[in-house]
Amino acid sequence: MTSPIVPSLMASKRWLLLCLLLPLPFFAVPSNPGRVIRLDLTHVDARGPLAGAGRVRRAADRSHRRVNGLLAAATPPSAPTLRSDGGGAGAATAAAAVHASTATYLVDLAIGTPPLALTAVLDTGSDLIWTQCDAPCRRCFPQPAPLYAPARSATYANVSCGSKLCEALPLTPRSSRCSAPEPGCAYYYSYGDGSSTGGVLATDAFTFGSAATVHGLAFGCGTDNLGGTDNSSGLVGMGRGPLSLVSQLGVTRFSYCFTPFNDTTTSSPLFLSSSARLSPAAKSTPFLPNPAGPRRGSYYYLSLEGITVGDTLLPIGGVPGHRGGLIIDSGTTFTALEERALVVLARAVAARVALPLATGAHLGLSLCFAAPDGRGPEAVGVPRLVLHFDGADMELPRTSVVVEDRVAGVACLGMVSARGMSVLGSMQQQNMHILYDIERGVLSFEPANCGEV
Ligand SMILES: *[C@@H]1O[C@H](CO)[C@@H](O)[C@H](O)[C@H]1NC(C)=O
Ligand SMILES: *[C@@H]1O[C@H](CO)[C@@H](O)[C@H](O)[C@H]1NC(C)=O
Ligand SMILES: *[C@@H]1O[C@H](CO)[C@@H](O)[C@H](O)[C@H]1NC(C)=O
Repeated sequence: MTSPIVPSLMASKRWLLLCLLLPLPFFAVPSNPGRVIRLDLTHVDARGPLAGAGRVRRAADRSHRRVNGLLAAATPPSAPTLRSDGGGAGAATAAAAVHASTATYLVDLAIGTPPLALTAVLDTGSDLIWTQCDAPCRRCFPQPAPLYAPARSATYANVSCGSKLCEALPLTPRSSRCSAPEPGCAYYYSYGDGSSTGGVLATDAFTFGSAATVHGLAFGCGTDNLGGTDNSSGLVGMGRGPLSLVSQLGVTRFSYCFTPFNDTTTSSPLFLSSSARLSPAAKSTPFLPNPAGPRRGSYYYLSLEGITVGDTLLPIGGVPGHRGGLIIDSGTTFTALEERALVVLARAVAARVALPLATGAHLGLSLCFAAPDGRGPEAVGVPRLVLHFDGADMELPRTSVVVEDRVAGVACLGMVSARGMSVLGSMQQQNMHILYDIERGVLSFEPANCGEV
């Protein structure tokens, strides 16, 4: 789009820079084919004070909140949306599209010139990249690092209202996005757990991993933010929407490999572009189209056709949930199964484990066994569990199925129930190298020792 370039911007010395930078991000992935772009993901709890039962409890609570957020965001636009028609400035007047929330993995990156280090939540369930912004900040939650300030970055640029990037913002009435006299592109994202961010869309240079710098990435410069309790300063969306990191970079694929839930010291690798590679033995299943429509929701949907427990294929039938499939997600720890499906699964598991049932209420989990002296998942004797995706079977190792509270002497099925959708959580993806092939529209996976990938 050529049209409304704001006069004040034209006058600015940055105009030339803006011209140079704006078209770049779409093909600006460092193109040296041999180059490995690897980011290290840290589990939110690895930097937190909790261990043992407290950690399980927190992960279960977070999984519930996360699934509720995913569900809220997937609700079709015809349903009532949060709206505040205050007639005030910018972001506050926008109808709030709700996005998923409460993610689980953190990534370290840097923004601006000179680069300012920041820790952000990595989220495969939403698209926008944003950070808290001192422009100045009207409302910022506490963060461990100094605030990013546009005025201190030589490569910062505003995104104009008429630009493609601005139009890529979801379902916000254009009138409020581009309301005079504010020349910028206002955004407002509300996440399902009550957290939110608002500000203007801007571009700047981002540095990922060891020295892969990408210029002109669009991000939300958030000057009105709520939530954020995981020591992060913002979020990096990896979803299917046009503003996500992967969409902006135009990468054809990415992969990650989550180290086990009980390992709080080894980070999990994420690979971008040609660095993301699996062996020929990897299995693949197609992504389903987004049932909520292309402009809504950013999720990666898969078709889960059944679950085998032991030798029995459970009569879960078709796709659990009514919204088109199971979402594979990095931000949910414990897999959430549609209520009816979880009941069938839990019965089948309970029938095959010889240990007495125990309460897991203190952990927020529903199927638990008395497992004194913390004998480990193998000794609990949990049956083989296979998820049957369209064209690919995923056999879960027992260590990805059972979570333990050794102090209380209980071992639980690491899954929770949900209403309206199912989500494959990160615990059930652990020690599996998972590749999102965006170009071919398939998800591939193979077992791996993620600490050594
Ligand atoms: C935030 O990070 C600090 C320092 O790394 C740590 O002591 C604290 O427990 C963390 N807080 C949370 C909620 O993770
Ligand atoms: C971006 O927009 C804001 C608000 O309109 C303005 O104050 C600032 O100077 C602009 N920054 C640049 C780099 O153009
Ligand atoms: C995690 O659990 C597995 C399986 O029980 C066990 O072999 C491993 O030692 C545990 N790791 C840590 C760091 O506790």
